Amino acid sequence: MNVLILSVGTRNKLIRYFVKAMDGKGRVIATDMCRLAPALYEADGYYIVPGMDSPEYLDVLFGICQKEGITGILSLIDPELSLLARNAHRFQAMGVTVIGSPYKQCELALDKFKMYEWLQDHGYRCAKSYRNQKKFYRDVEEGKIIYPVFVKPAKGSASIAVSKVYDKEMLDLLFMNGGELMVQEFLDGQEIGADVYVDMLSHKVVSIFTKKKLKMRAGETDKAVSFKDSKLFGLIERFVAEAGFLAAIDIDLFEVGGEYYISEINPRFGGGYPHAYACGVDHVGMVAKNLAGRANEKVIGDYEDGVYMMKFNELCIRQFNRPSKKEDAHIVSKFGEGRTEKEEG
Ligand SMILES: Nc1ncnc2c1ncn2[C@@H]1O[C@H](COP(=O)(O)OP(=O)(O)O)[C@@H](O)[C@H]1O
Ligand SMILES: [Mg+2]
Repeated sequence: MNVLILSVGTRNKLIRYFVKAMDGKGRVIATDMCRLAPALYEADGYYIVPGMDSPEYLDVLFGICQKEGITGILSLIDPELSLLARNAHRFQAMGVTVIGSPYKQCELALDKFKMYEWLQDHGYRCAKSYRNQKKFYRDVEEGKIIYPVFVKPAKGSASIAVSKVYDKEMLDLLFMNGGELMVQEFLDGQEIGADVYVDMLSHKVVSIFTKKKLKMRAGETDKAVSFKDSKLFGLIERFVAEAGFLAAIDIDLFEVGGEYYISEINPRFGGGYPHAYACGVDHVGMVAKNLAGRANEKVIGDYEDGVYMMKFNELCIRQFNRPSKKEDAHIVSKFGEGRTEKEEG
C-alpha cells in the first residue's frame, strides 16, 4: 500500500501523519510543482512535477504511480480534485484508488454559486446569494436584502478578493474590475470549521470534528477551539450524505442566532485538519484502512471539547546538492539524501 499525495505545498504535518500511518505498511510519495514546497521533504520520496494545466501532467502522474507501485492517490488543492475524479477510472485501471469525491461533487464544491443553488434546493440554511447584480439591486430596493453584504469570487479560495461591502458605490467598483463575483448576505455570527470523513467503502459519514474559529489570519484559522453539538453533527451527517461527498472533507459553517448555516465545502483535507488529528480524530488512519479494503466504524464526536489550537510558524531548512540546470526539465525525481536522478547523470 503506497500513497501518492499531490500538491503538498506547506502541509508538512499532514504528510507526517501519512508517513506514520503507513509505517511498515507502505511508502508516502509527495509531489509539488515547486521544489521549495517544504512538505515534499517529509515524505518517503518526492517528485517535482509540471503544473496541473500542462498537457503531460496526467501522464507524469501515471508514470509515478507505475514506478512507485501506488495504490491510493489524493490531492490537497481544490483545482486538482476534479482532474483526479474525472480520471478515476484510468487510475483504477492501474490499481490506484482516487481518494476523494466523485467528479460532480468536486465541481459543485468548486463553484460557490452552484453550491448555493444546491443548498437552497435541498432546504439547507445558507447565505442568500446573487450572481446577477441587477437582481441584487432589485432585491435591495424591495428590502429583501440589506447592506452590509459579502462579495467574493464564485470560484475563489484562500479568502482572496473577498470583501465586506457597505454600499452600492463600493459594489459597482468591485464588479467593474470584473471576475466572476457573487454577492452574499453577510453572515454575522460564529464561524465554524468541520473536518469530516465519509467512508469510501460504506459511503457512510463515520467521523466529524467541529471547532469554533476564534481568530483568522490571512485566510487561515489562527486560533480555534473544539466543541460538540449533536444538532450540528446531525446536520453535517445529513448534508454530506445527501450531497454525495466521499473521503476527507472540510466544511465552513456559521452559527447565527442559534441556527447553523452551511457556507463552503472543500472536498479534501482542510488546512486546519491538524487540530482534529491532535484531538485523536484520525482521518489519515481511515484512509489507510479503506485502502486496505476495510470499512471504518462510525466514531462521530469521539474527541474532547474545549481543546484549543494556537498556530505558530516553523521553518524547513535545506541545501540542495549541486543545483542542476536541468531542474526545469519536466520531471525531476528525488529520493533519499535529496539528490536528483538527473543530477546524478
Ligand atoms: N456570507 C458571508 N458572511 C460573512 N463572512 C463570510 C461570508 N462568506 C465568507 N465569509 C468569510 O470569508 C472567508 C472566505 O470565504 P469562503 O467562502 O470560505 O471562501 P474561500 O475559503 O474559498 O476563500 C470565510 O472564511 C469567512 O471568514
Ligand atoms: Mg473557506
